[in-house]
Amino acid sequence: MKHGFVGLGNMGLAIIKGMIDSRNYPPGDILAYDPYSAAGRAAVAAMGVEVCPSLAAVAAADILLLAVKPQVMPSVLKDLRASDLSKKLIISIAAGRSLTFLQEGLGHGAAIIRVMPNINAKVGAAISAFAATSHCGEAHKDAVRALFATVGTIVELAEEHFSIFTAVAGSSPAFSYMYIDALARAAVRGGIPKAKALEIAASAVYGSAKMILEGNEHPFALVDQVCSPGGTTIEGVCRLQECGFESAVHKAVAAVALKDAQLA
Ligand SMILES: NC(=O)c1ccc[n+]([C@@H]2O[C@H](COP(=O)([O-])OP(=O)(O)OC[C@H]3O[C@@H](n4cnc5c(N)ncnc54)[C@H](OP(=O)(O)O)[C@@H]3O)[C@@H](O)[C@H]2O)c1
Repeated sequence: MKHGFVGLGNMGLAIIKGMIDSRNYPPGDILAYDPYSAAGRAAVAAMGVEVCPSLAAVAAADILLLAVKPQVMPSVLKDLRASDLSKKLIISIAAGRSLTFLQEGLGHGAAIIRVMPNINAKVGAAISAFAATSHCGEAHKDAVRALFATVGTIVELAEEHFSIFTAVAGSSPAFSYMYIDALARAAVRGGIPKAKALEIAASAVYGSAKMILEGNEHPFALVDQVCSPGGTTIEGVCRLQECGFESAVHKAVAAVALKDAQLA
């Protein structure tokens, strides 16, 4: 079973690395095409992946993963129509590009699965969601589950929820990085050097996510555990709320979901 990648940027490279690191996918069974990124081609060639000279060559793979920017997708789909896709599984990770858009671009009949991963795939910690066309069977879905399990976890999700998933999982790493940096900057203000401050802030956020994932407690029950009466943390919690913390997060999520829907 050959996997072909179109686009060797952040996500294409992260997924190929995850596949190879998992040892479940021999590098020789992976094909890759990106005429623009010499760095991407060099990186995958160093991993033992076959670099293809054309889209038609990479389209020989059984499973084709499209990892180009959403605005590039129409021309890639148009060019792919020249290949026989009838027995292939096409996976798109482009934000905002719906299954209907992909089906229309490729011509009806192809098995297509839309996946929304996130950038934490680079460290094997992505949360991804997928939705499939009616042409896909369980074997197609299992292939996608196995593929994205190499870079984190993956859940099946109704496509109508993709815009909100994109915001809460695809884009939110950017929000989390901002939060971590803001915490670290506050620590710098308090006199801690930036590198150490970043390590402390990122570890605190990492541990908090672990508490929620591995425990059974509601986040606000955990907040209550940190806030002793008349203590220090409750002051910070109230100040965050006064400053519109929760409403800022809601506005950011809504803005991403709106843009995703507009792209579709
Ligand atoms: N980054 C994220 O956090 C994230 C999360 C979830 C989903 N996604 C989705 O993943 C997709 C890829 O994102 P990315 O961050 O990996 O983008 P990226 O770093 O820009 O990578 C895309 C690569 O594809 C190349 N390319 C452009 N046109 C091409 C073509 N016709 N054929 C083959 N390769 C082509 C680009 O070259 P040039 O740079 O020269 O154009 C670039 O090297 C996007 O659709 C995005 O919506 C991204």
